[in-house]
Amino acid sequence: MDQARAPGERREFETDRLLLRPWRVSDAPVQRELWTERDPRVPPHRRISPDGSPSLQELTDQIRRDTGNPFPGLLAAEQKSSGQVIGYCGLIPNSHGPAEEPELAFEFLRQVWCRGFATEASWTVLQQAKAAGYRRLWATVRDWNTPSRRVLAKLGFVETGRVEPDDVHGDSLFTMKTL
Ligand SMILES: CC(C)(COP(=O)(O)OP(=O)(O)OC[C@H]1O[C@@H](n2cnc3c(N)ncnc32)[C@H](O)[C@@H]1OP(=O)(O)O)[C@@H](O)C(=O)NCCC(=O)NCCS
Repeated sequence: MDQARAPGERREFETDRLLLRPWRVSDAPVQRELWTERDPRVPPHRRISPDGSPSLQELTDQIRRDTGNPFPGLLAAEQKSSGQVIGYCGLIPNSHGPAEEPELAFEFLRQVWCRGFATEASWTVLQQAKAAGYRRLWATVRDWNTPSRRVLAKLGFVETGRVEPDDVHGDSLFTMKTL
């Protein structure tokens, strides 16, 4: 299948408690909050640098450039009860394998952890991925990231045995799910 669906394809999906939708420029502050909350073991290029990058402006620019590929892209997760964006979930390009088998990604604000939001959002993304024709999805996770490993296990991702060792930031485990 084409890894990117036609422009204009609907990228808005509802779960019980969430609206998954494309990012808006007004969401840049919550994106930055997610960056500031990241675990110190996360590699530096995914954390706020000492000089404050990415700035709100840089995140705004990234949102403007967002193409939604691979479909449905990374989607903001808006809590229906409050209208607040509390995280994101979606698909990103596979940096280690076939382009037609993208990676699942998710991140939520600490204040809403352990309430099932990542799992709920992911099920809907998996459903959409299957409908879009993807046959397999991947996810890489650091060995120390128990919450993420638990979410992936609940979703039926299995560890493939492939590991990218990293003594500084933690080994990356490669997991995979057949849709
Ligand atoms: C990973 C993450 C998205 C999970 O979000 P969430 O909405 O809390 O996930 P859920 O509530 O759906 O599930 C979390 C599970 O982890 C479990 N968990 C959380 N912390 C845990 C811990 N310290 N030890 C053991 N289990 C833990 C929860 O109990 C729950 O499992 P359960 O349903 O069996 O009880 C969230 O922790 C996060 O944003 N982390 C930072 C970003 C990140 O790591 N993204 C993934 C990169 S691979």
